[in-house]
Amino acid sequence: MFGMDTMTFNKIAGALLGSALLVMGLNIVAEGVFHAETPEKTAISIELPEAEGEGQAAAAEEPKVSLASLLASADAAKGESAFKACKACHTVEDGGKNKVGPNLYNIVDHAVGSRDGFAYSDVLKEKASEKWTFENLDAFITKPKAWAPGTKMSYGGMKGDAKRANLLAYLRSLSANPVDLPVEAASSAEQPKAEEAATQPSTETETSAEQPKE
Ligand code: HEC
Repeated sequence: MFGMDTMTFNKIAGALLGSALLVMGLNIVAEGVFHAETPEKTAISIELPEAEGEGQAAAAEEPKVSLASLLASADAAKGESAFKACKACHTVEDGGKNKVGPNLYNIVDHAVGSRDGFAYSDVLKEKASEKWTFENLDAFITKPKAWAPGTKMSYGGMKGDAKRANLLAYLRSLSANPVDLPVEAASSAEQPKAEEAATQPSTETETSAEQPKE
């Protein structure tokens, strides 16, 4: 009924198959040409200056969220999994033993370099008058050797502000009486209030925590 004789069908099928093969062939050739060209990287070097400018602009625009507000929304459970990076060297239980690094129970607000029976590096001993505030911990964990040059802690550092905030929330939880979370302080001069409001869409506590009256 749909009168197509075998001959016609074969012709059409043949043509379709032929063009499919042709397309495949072209793809292979095109790929070959493309791969041959990539090592020269001409296109990339042309784009570089512009990309650099964009990067700078993006960096300048990106609002720097304060540690206090990161901590306000930090997740201690996520911090516990981030702590896997520390587990090889640190115990966290109350009375846990010192391993390669000292026990970290109740470390927030504890004096730096003051765990009994741990042989600290000179740099941490020298900082013994300081406390492990959230800021100090954050700076140390970001890049141990930058905050404490000469530290024995052979750990490269943790990237990601929010990830570290989660980790700090976890460290804070390792205590019978976790210290208060820092309140957004007016002392952070580089943080205009408008920007804070913009980055925190729903903070009911903000009005009570801050007293902008002059
Ligand atoms: C390779 C082992 C190692 C890893 C991994 C490591 N630490 Fe340490 N940590 C140490 C050592 C060693 C010290 C003692 C440093 C010194 O005396 O300079 C230390 C010290 C510390 C201190 C100071 C404690 C005190 O009593 O003053 C803190 C806080 C700390 N580490 C947190 C962390 C966190 C959080 C991580 C994971 C992100 C981590 N460490 C990963 C070995 C490690």
